[in-house]
Amino acid sequence: MSSFETIIYEKEDGTARITLNRPQALNAYNIGMRDELYEILGAIRDDPEVAVVILRGAGEKAFCAGADLTEFLSAPPPVAARRARFARDVWGLFLSINKPFIAALHGYVLGSGIEMSLCCDIRLCSEDARFGLPEPALGIIPAAGGSQTLPRVIGRAAALEMLLSGRWLTAAEAHKLKLVNRVVPREKLLPEAEKIADKIKSHDPLAVGLSKQAVTRGLDMTLSEGLALERRLAARLAAP
Ligand code: COA
Repeated sequence: MSSFETIIYEKEDGTARITLNRPQALNAYNIGMRDELYEILGAIRDDPEVAVVILRGAGEKAFCAGADLTEFLSAPPPVAARRARFARDVWGLFLSINKPFIAALHGYVLGSGIEMSLCCDIRLCSEDARFGLPEPALGIIPAAGGSQTLPRVIGRAAALEMLLSGRWLTAAEAHKLKLVNRVVPREKLLPEAEKIADKIKSHDPLAVGLSKQAVTRGLDMTLSEGLALERRLAARLAAP
């Protein structure tokens, strides 16, 4: 187990577990968490021992209550902020990793909390989960890919209603909109995530990685381009 200041990172039998660990601030995403997440994601990408990743939040109340509002209020000027984001493209790195990520969501899942979960491949939530995008109410727009990833998952109308009206979703509504794969009782959240991780780990890691690539890259292509991609990836698997 590696202890960072804002995240706990554990690795065991091929499963990596990332726990957002600022429960006193509802795991709000701050600059320290950005830097540590960047480091951990790089390690996961390069570590052949990691077959699957579970992302969760510490504490009872939240997976993540969005960007840290105390830092937001004292944020650096836009040019410096843009330069820092470019140097540390956490979300680009997250979305580029060809290993399966499972998000285990509970309590408040707001702003960058939803966006982080949308960088994952499978989302489970407990019955107490609440999803919202408060950015426009704060005079900003999502900055962790959410304006692009959310509509790709729940569609344009539902994504825009959440974003523009600020309406929060219950766990049941999130399930109906396919934002989460499954809703489970709170005590079953991690066991369910572990069960899925174990099943994935029992499969050939190359086939798992190529399957993820085929689906995620294919979604941004036309059908014929996607079919060509699938053929190329299948050929890599068949190669001696
Ligand atoms: N950034 C920094 N600190 C945050 C935070 C955030 N996004 N969200 C919550 N916290 C802190 C609170 O300031 C509080 O700290 P304190 O105990 O030192 O006063 C602690 O976390 C607990 O939050 P609290 O507001 O007391 O819990 P609650 O259950 O009454 O309300 C929320 C929960 C999520 C409704 C409320 O905290 C909230 O609206 N947070 C901001 C959400 C947001 O706008 N995020 C930004 C998205 S871009």
